[in-house]
Amino acid sequence: MAKETKDVGFIFDLDGVLVDTAVLHYQAWRRLANSLGFDFSEKQNEELKGVGRIDSLNKILSWGGKTMTEEEKINAATQKNEWYNELIRHLTTKDALPGAIDFLTAARNRRIGIALGSASKNALPVLDRLGITDYFDAIVDGRSLTHNKPHPEVFLKGSSAMHLEPSRCAVFEDAEVGIEAALKGGMVAIGIGSKDTLPAAQLHYDTLKQAEIDQVISLIRQNNP
Ligand code: BG6
Ligand code: MG
Repeated sequence: MAKETKDVGFIFDLDGVLVDTAVLHYQAWRRLANSLGFDFSEKQNEELKGVGRIDSLNKILSWGGKTMTEEEKINAATQKNEWYNELIRHLTTKDALPGAIDFLTAARNRRIGIALGSASKNALPVLDRLGITDYFDAIVDGRSLTHNKPHPEVFLKGSSAMHLEPSRCAVFEDAEVGIEAALKGGMVAIGIGSKDTLPAAQLHYDTLKQAEIDQVISLIRQNNP
């Protein structure tokens, strides 16, 4: 990456920002919950956004009033992941969320650094199925993380891989824990989705279709007086 021409970076969460996989995670977790004899709502599923695999399982088990040994948890999470993988096999470019590919293209044309900052261990196959892997200067995903969001590790690794100070980066997130992580890391936090669910974000867009590069860059400039 030519550092001298990229003085700001955009870090994108994956699930819920670039692709609508939240519904697929929900289907797979629901199948697991149903196999254990209970169900959970779409509203409860909101609480799983941005949350790592085992933490998600722990929340779901508590909703169903179930307990598991650590070994049983690993088996259950592996089963859910197999079901989830069956679902993401069918993803195509058409499953990118509205405006996502156009926004990545526009950012690349403006010579803005582009990184992925996802908790998911399935990020690579999802990017590949969407055909957007090549847009990224850096990919940080659940395979290399020690801490889950709201810890800022994922985004700090993203900015560092782009050779940019965190303050020169904006994070695009659909999860409250992700907005918290971006702010903790000293980055500009852009909420994608409902303003009500992401009150801490510095700027909101319903989807990347409404996002404006100049507005985001102006916030980054304010972040670097
Ligand atoms: C996040 C999703 O991106 O990744 C969560 O919002 C998911 O719902 C988490 O649990 C971990 O994903 P995976 O694919 O590693 O199980
Ligand atoms: Mg997300």
